[in-house]
Amino acid sequence: ISTIISSSSSSEITNSTNLPQAIIIGVKKCGTRALLKFLSIHPAIAASSTEIHFFDSPKNFQLGLDWYRNQMPIVKNNQYLTIEKTPHYFIDRQTPARIFHLLPEVKLILILRDPIIRAISDYVQIKSRHEFYPTFDEFISMKNFTRWTPIKIGCYVIYLRRWLKYFPLERIHFVDGENLIQRPWQELEYVQQFLNISNHIQQEHFYFNSNKRGFPCVKQPNGCLGTSKGRQHPLISEKTREILKNLYSTCNQQFKQLAQINFSWL
Ligand code: A3P
Repeated sequence: ISTIISSSSSSEITNSTNLPQAIIIGVKKCGTRALLKFLSIHPAIAASSTEIHFFDSPKNFQLGLDWYRNQMPIVKNNQYLTIEKTPHYFIDRQTPARIFHLLPEVKLILILRDPIIRAISDYVQIKSRHEFYPTFDEFISMKNFTRWTPIKIGCYVIYLRRWLKYFPLERIHFVDGENLIQRPWQELEYVQQFLNISNHIQQEHFYFNSNKRGFPCVKQPNGCLGTSKGRQHPLISEKTREILKNLYSTCNQQFKQLAQINFSWL
């Protein structure tokens, strides 16, 4: 055994994991998986393969920080930046304070999409698990539709305010999820800048896959996301679209001001 150990490099034989230096905190259905997959192209990044749900789950949280560290990916070669993503963190009331107290230096990444598309995506995911389910238009025509979670999440400003009680704006990087689909390398360039790592991820790492509804994939084996990502969306009526446009216009406006960003769809 000692021969095997001495003949391999130390990085190959360690089983060490690190607490994350950056966390993708959300938003659910905005491209969180794609973002993490694309980031893992970078040789410095060790990305968790599953959602950890440490800060938002009472059961996991009471297991403590050592448990959390053990859930992180094993650090290989020169990987010095560990990242996890749990999209539910963004809307969870307890999470901002918990992260602040346990990881006060951590960098936060938030990916966003047009909330109307996000709501449809959320709806499609729920529908895929229920055989008989109302149409999206039917949901929006119901009296209390604004209380329906797929609709509520899209008013991003409500949740951002909670995070800003603990973290300064400079500690949160906003990714345009619409642009991540069109020009992933551009969004990745901004993220790499924010993380203070080399600009390694480039346009030539990607191709657009017509079998995957034109979504970008990485030029590597299993470089596309699985079948649960990039699902077909139903058409929605003009009336539904108008209702949602009106509903989200104030939220979007306030979010834009608070986050100091200017995404084209906001
Ligand atoms: P749909 O499946 O509804 O189209 P998340 O990973 O946060 O759950 O987000 C899922 C969404 O990411 C998908 O929703 C899809 O629109 C979007 N997405 C962004 N880039 C993608 C990519 N390269 N491949 C597949 N889906 C991608």
